[in-house]
Amino acid sequence: MAASNCSKNGAIVEIGSWRGKSTVLLAQGALSGQKPTIYAVDPHTGGLEKRNIIMLTFYEFKNNIKKAGADEIVVPIVKRSEDAVKGWNIPVEVIFIDGSHEFEDVEKDFTLWDPHVIEGGLIIFHDTNAWLQNGPYRAIKKHILKSRHFKDAGTVDSIFYARKCVENTQTDLENMARIERSLRHVDVVNFFYAPIKKLMCSLGFNVVDMSYAVYSPWTDLSTFNPLAGFFVRIMRRLKFNSYIKDEQGCFKEYYKAGGLKREIRHAGHTLHGVSKLFYENGNEQAEIPYNKGYIDGCLKEYYDNGKLRSEEFYVNGERDGLSKVYFENGVLMKEKRYSKNRMVSAAVYDENGKARKK
Ligand SMILES: C[S@@+](CC[C@H](N)C(=O)[O-])C[C@H]1O[C@@H](n2cnc3c(N)ncnc32)[C@H](O)[C@@H]1O
Repeated sequence: MAASNCSKNGAIVEIGSWRGKSTVLLAQGALSGQKPTIYAVDPHTGGLEKRNIIMLTFYEFKNNIKKAGADEIVVPIVKRSEDAVKGWNIPVEVIFIDGSHEFEDVEKDFTLWDPHVIEGGLIIFHDTNAWLQNGPYRAIKKHILKSRHFKDAGTVDSIFYARKCVENTQTDLENMARIERSLRHVDVVNFFYAPIKKLMCSLGFNVVDMSYAVYSPWTDLSTFNPLAGFFVRIMRRLKFNSYIKDEQGCFKEYYKAGGLKREIRHAGHTLHGVSKLFYENGNEQAEIPYNKGYIDGCLKEYYDNGKLRSEEFYVNGERDGLSKVYFENGVLMKEKRYSKNRMVSAAVYDENGKARKK
């Protein structure tokens, strides 16, 4: 809704895209309306170094965006939000905040991006009613629910939204006070949960405020609460995760039949080096270059017969340089030149190499 009603006076920004589910929903809305650009900000590395987590979601993200036919309007920014906002000069009409759910991080995402949201623009937070992830709720409680600069606030399931304005009315304030009362359970649960979480952290458990896929078969079980974190740890100790090996600087994940599925290169808790994905037939599927947590270099994709499908260049998390897509017979299909995420030229060819449009 928010995306389809966008007037295109500004762009849509999403903080935290994961595998692209919410990006696709935003894109569907945007495509049915004025087709505003969606900037999808996510380092796709698992977030924060302080947590013992490595993941790589950019390839799945890219494919989901492509499958949804949204790659013309979605611009991935493979960076942390605090870095992406540096030098940002594009007005924002809708912002969807769904990155790290730690209070300090949600607060940072809000305070850094809010100045770019235009008057009448929508600010949307995910998971504001979550029992164990109270960062989003605490952020809206502190910055929005009592503010004079937001109106038309509401909730839909776990989503909270409000529109930026110069000055709201008494009715808006009463409406926000009602929303605050309806979310009070988050505070009550936190009263009991916060000390448990603190204790678990001090004992070295991997307690996080959101569900990440970690390199473990129990990934999607995730570590969103101390108990789940505890189980993942025990499983690892017992070496149940035989399909994943953690070697020096590289996680190796295997198919059930034994073939290599992914090689994820890292330095400590950051993605670093060229990670590789493989098809079940053993051929390479993709090469994804990271430099100290940022995508940097040439991302290559292959057909399952081993032929090159595409090459995309990135510089420090942004698309920059000439991207090419090839037909399976090796003939050039598309080329697009980017400069700091902006497309500056494009050409499409048919299977005989004849230009179709520019
Ligand atoms: C809850 S998931 C997002 C889910 C996604 N919006 C969806 O609904 O499908 C959170 C994402 O935030 C990302 N993230 C964590 N810290 C971030 C930061 N500082 N800046 C941008 N993204 C961040 C993580 O990499 C992760 O992919």
